[in-house]
Amino acid sequence: MEKFILVIDQGTTSTRAILFNKDGVDIAKSQEEFPQYFPQPSWVEHDANEIWQSVLNVTHKVMQEAGISAKDIESIGITNQRETTVIWDKESGMPIHHALVWQSRQTNDITNQLIDEGHEDLIRLKTGLKVNSYFSATKVMWLLNEIPQARKRAEKGELLFGTIDTWLIWKLTDGQVHATDYTNASRTMMFNIHSLEWDEELLSIFNIPKTLLPEVKKSSDFYGKTAYYHLFDEEVSITGVAGDQQAALFGQNCFEPGNVKNTYGTGSFILMNTGKKAVNSEHGLLTTLACDDKGEVCYALEGSIFVTGSAIQWLRDGLEIIEESYETEKMSYELASNEGVYVVPAFVGLGAPYWDSNVRGAIFGVTRGTSRQTFARATLESIAYQTKDVIETMVCETGLPITQMKVDGGASKNKFLLEFQADILNIPIFKPLVTETTAMGAAFLAGLGTGFWKNTEEIRHIWQVESSFYPDMDVNDRDAYYKKWKKAVAAARFFHE
Ligand code: G3P
Repeated sequence: MEKFILVIDQGTTSTRAILFNKDGVDIAKSQEEFPQYFPQPSWVEHDANEIWQSVLNVTHKVMQEAGISAKDIESIGITNQRETTVIWDKESGMPIHHALVWQSRQTNDITNQLIDEGHEDLIRLKTGLKVNSYFSATKVMWLLNEIPQARKRAEKGELLFGTIDTWLIWKLTDGQVHATDYTNASRTMMFNIHSLEWDEELLSIFNIPKTLLPEVKKSSDFYGKTAYYHLFDEEVSITGVAGDQQAALFGQNCFEPGNVKNTYGTGSFILMNTGKKAVNSEHGLLTTLACDDKGEVCYALEGSIFVTGSAIQWLRDGLEIIEESYETEKMSYELASNEGVYVVPAFVGLGAPYWDSNVRGAIFGVTRGTSRQTFARATLESIAYQTKDVIETMVCETGLPITQMKVDGGASKNKFLLEFQADILNIPIFKPLVTETTAMGAAFLAGLGTGFWKNTEEIRHIWQVESSFYPDMDVNDRDAYYKKWKKAVAAARFFHE
């Protein structure tokens, strides 16, 4: 009887359930958006129970659509928005507050305090991360400080912390399992990526009780069995867990050191596998945990760019100069050049490699002739330039040449973007046939965990190229475009100094 891997892909704005067969084909999927809460301008929150409900809904729908029941599911893989922080009551299962989302900036003051106290170098050396409100640690500190009784209850062992994977594992197993995987743990700023354990010294600096923290396991491992008989009429094992960007790295078959992928989502996340070597970044990249071809823990360098796809949403919902994102492709082709216009989409500051929380967005070079097309093109170009900023830093820090890049995510549908990306990077870009690489990575991890796929050799041939983009730009043009971009970023930063 044919079996399937069920993947739960819990992202920042929507939850998806996808069923994969043994050939790696996504035979059914279901997606549901859930509410976003913005209690103050730069704060972003989710209701963890609404997330859980969305998981139940999409899982139910996808099984119904495929006409399968629990006995047809080999195992479950979970992949998730990373860093987003939930704290809940161990007994009642109720979150003590909304989840603080990775994009949320309500912990900027705590972050600045940690920097002022001189903890930056220690934190970077142990966790591979920049001290930034992006990561979970300051979010946990905020919740313990702000929510009445939270600290006292945490100290008494009554509360649990988790990123979204942990929350879902706990819910799926009906509170039996409190666990996370190495990739998610490495985004909390509490986990030592060298000793592979929660770091006591950092926990004491942050004043976070260890009793809050989950057990940390390999991404391809047995996590537990589901207990929700109303969803699954028999137990199903959870055997794969990874943060979405690391899952995409795995799904793109970036198993060898030097392999790079870029996921163009709301933001863009560029990861390079660096194998068993933890490259300590001096220039604004993050060192993070990933999975090698055996499903064992390995290291990656990451450039996290906060605003890329959401800049296109801004053209649509903010400026209202397009109705649908895909229109930007045609509009950009209508111009022979960017007409000297540069958009720096630093709407929430700049992430890698600048890590400047103060800078805000800027537009340069506007003339009387600047049109909707120009804005569209300059915005798409900004995605490619930001990617180049990260790729150049990766080459410089690893000494490894980057000879190609694999891409996925929503904006990878945009041909203009990928052509311009290849031109500006001067390397070929490959887009796979199945662009569900995040879910596919989680499926592979789950399937390797049960022997559904015996090894990565079996899954390598599942990855196939759909389209390739080769550079075709004059070197002088390339240099001129990129030089102007660097000037635009410098000017935007100068303005907000
Ligand atoms: O680090 C944040 C990242 O994991 C979010 O991914 O795809 O949910 O926007 P996404």
